[in-house]
Amino acid sequence: MVSRTIPVDAFDLIIFGGTGDLARRKILPALFKRFCAGQMPAPSRLIGAARAEMSAADYREIARAALLEFAGEAALDDASVTEFCQTLEYVAVDARDGRGWDDLSAMLTDGPVRAFYYSVGPGLFSDLSARLHKHGLVNAETRIVVEKPFGHDLDSARGLNRELAQHFDESQIYRIDHYLGKETVQNLMAVRFGNMLFEPLWNAQYIDHIQITVAETVGVGGRGEYYENAGAMRDMMQNHLMQLLCLIAMEPPAMFEPDAVRDEKLKVIRALDVVQPHHIVRGQYTAADGYSSYREDVGNPRSKTESFIALKCHLNNWRWAGTPFYLRTGKRLKERDSEITVVFKDTPHSIFGPEAGRHRNELTIQLQPDEGITLGVTIKEPGPGGMRLIDVPLDMSFAEALGPDADTPDAYERLIMDVIRGNQTLFMRNDEVEAAWAWTDPIIRGWEARGDAPKPYDSFSAGPDDAALLMRRDGREWRGITH
Ligand code: BG6
Repeated sequence: MVSRTIPVDAFDLIIFGGTGDLARRKILPALFKRFCAGQMPAPSRLIGAARAEMSAADYREIARAALLEFAGEAALDDASVTEFCQTLEYVAVDARDGRGWDDLSAMLTDGPVRAFYYSVGPGLFSDLSARLHKHGLVNAETRIVVEKPFGHDLDSARGLNRELAQHFDESQIYRIDHYLGKETVQNLMAVRFGNMLFEPLWNAQYIDHIQITVAETVGVGGRGEYYENAGAMRDMMQNHLMQLLCLIAMEPPAMFEPDAVRDEKLKVIRALDVVQPHHIVRGQYTAADGYSSYREDVGNPRSKTESFIALKCHLNNWRWAGTPFYLRTGKRLKERDSEITVVFKDTPHSIFGPEAGRHRNELTIQLQPDEGITLGVTIKEPGPGGMRLIDVPLDMSFAEALGPDADTPDAYERLIMDVIRGNQTLFMRNDEVEAAWAWTDPIIRGWEARGDAPKPYDSFSAGPDDAALLMRRDGREWRGITH
């Protein structure tokens, strides 16, 4: 498999929060890998920026340690690690009191693309943007990258959008949802719009229902404080699952271009109906051997925050009227498994009679781990004795089909390079984020008003039993991890 590296222009990337968790786990390793692939042409520079006073040499040591821990096999090449770290600079800045901004300004020259990565809490977005302007650091080639959570609800998201819009044009703002950078998530679009096979059947007339599962085995880890205020709804459903739903349900955009794609995604979110309370199941994991409970993890014995959510929703539009979408996500579940299953309807009439049984085609898109696509096809069970039908999978594992050397960059590698190239296709637009919150808010307000508590579920199970009932009431079953 030949890996194609598309050249990019030289750039300056300034990482605010340059010593933080995200920078160490994701941003620096992603940049290192792109550096190794030749996508950091001279005189590109990476500048870590944070409040702590330290030298560039200190920062390089922090970066080196981060690469050894988080960059996988690529970091075994010591010479490349050293060479990459040599490109790193550091500046101590304080967004609130103005310290260090002249130093940062002195480091930057006009010419290369300039991107500021806001790897900091949203509370600092406004101050950072104002400082960048005050010090004349924003030019037409400047971009900013902002991370989720983009707000806590519709009001706060609108507030953030307003603040950013005071300083930047929307075309300069890159809101990251790292799921959109995943190779397999982009494959959803390739599968749908690169094949003639699926799209004619991709509607309520032929599809019984669609289910999306994003299951994790990890608990909330050291992020208890953030998670307790977010829960699975805000942490995963409002963004990652919503994006998957958009890509599965949207109309074909005229072109694979930023606004064409984002316009179609927006229409999907706006077509979502209000979810009925009895179509939502919330859960919270309990302790297991050697593993603490959610409440212990977040240090709140009375927590009502959900670490699991399953819901059924509908899209009020011509294509999908009558086809339910079932979405679920949770932590501390029995397997790490992200998949989308499209379950087609029964054939209108069985010519083989009742003894042959009824079968349905199913298309499963496995996102992680073990990316691949499986299409369940009905065939005759071999042997004499009449026509009995069975389902067999037409299975395509991407690893097997594309070979072990297939170039599958991490989501952050692709997304950061898209920022440098100025391609916003895989980033969320202001109206898209607001529409997602507009759908999420009434659901959360509903359970807050009723004082609903999530159902406890065993760690490393499939979540609360009610999630299975949500399906069974409709005569359906979850695929992937099951109860
Ligand atoms: C993050 C969430 O956005 O996505 C985490 O905040 C979650 O809670 C993570 O664990 C999952 O990402 P991935 O790439 O591991 O599926």
